[in-house]
Amino acid sequence: MEIISSVAALRQRLGRENSVAFVPTMGNLHEGHLDLVRIAQQHAKCVVVSIFVNPLQFGANEDFGKYPRTLQADCDKLAACGVAIVFAPSEADLYPQPQQVTVEPPPIAQELCGAFRPGHFRGVATVVLKLLNIVQPQVAVFGKKDYQQLHVIRQMVTQLNMPVTIAGAETLRATDGLALSSRNQYLTPAERTEAIFMYQTLGEIRKSLGGGNKDYALLEDKAVKALVSHGWQVDYVAIRSQTALLEPEAGERNLVILAAARLGKTRLIDNIEVCL
Ligand code: PAJ
Repeated sequence: MEIISSVAALRQRLGRENSVAFVPTMGNLHEGHLDLVRIAQQHAKCVVVSIFVNPLQFGANEDFGKYPRTLQADCDKLAACGVAIVFAPSEADLYPQPQQVTVEPPPIAQELCGAFRPGHFRGVATVVLKLLNIVQPQVAVFGKKDYQQLHVIRQMVTQLNMPVTIAGAETLRATDGLALSSRNQYLTPAERTEAIFMYQTLGEIRKSLGGGNKDYALLEDKAVKALVSHGWQVDYVAIRSQTALLEPEAGERNLVILAAARLGKTRLIDNIEVCL
């Protein structure tokens, strides 16, 4: 496995490849990330994984400084998976100048997580565009765990006519149902036990929707109250259409239930797709 940090060296190395699949990450890899790698490997022999904690997508009061950076352990995992190339640029490699040209994401990026993390999706879209331009893969794989992120990236690729196929991967969960996330390690043991309650709460909404309940506002409100009564600080619980992430039209059958909430200092997100 090759570990490359400069943009020029990566471009030169990839000049030899005619088919590349790409998995962008911020490192601190877990099985969910490795699942994306395995999907990428089904699309191309040469898989590139990037590891870069992107300052542009973190707000001033967020966890950029303490985000876990574990490059050696990550590279060991990727080598064991048979990954060809790790791209691990420094901030100076990727942002040699202040990034004044940015991607303005679509209006949906102001809602849901975007309403609580101003500028987050601009930062995500900008770094993903840069990485896709550098790697120029035929396929790039993203997790449904970050459902709104996947939606914004699909919109960007479509509307900017980018020659790449975006593949979406199912969320990998711990045995108790908690979605795997690098941020789970911020949780105290008591919070880790409580953390599954968000997924359970989304599951309750799914059950109600399956039973024919269409009072989305009431279901969202009930879920928020349940989470609050368990000590969560809730950003949102929202029932949306899968395709546009907007409030569902009457008769909409492909829904997604999304939530974001803080447990102590840790902000967790999760979602469940529901097809009625
Ligand atoms: P990061 O949080 O490291 O996630 C990298 C990829 O792994 C994303 O596509 C994310 O959706 C996926 N992922 C995370 N947890 C997962 C799980 N439990 N199951 C399946 N997939 C999972 O998302 C980012 O980094 C950044 O925003 C990035 C796209 C790299 C841009 O900086």
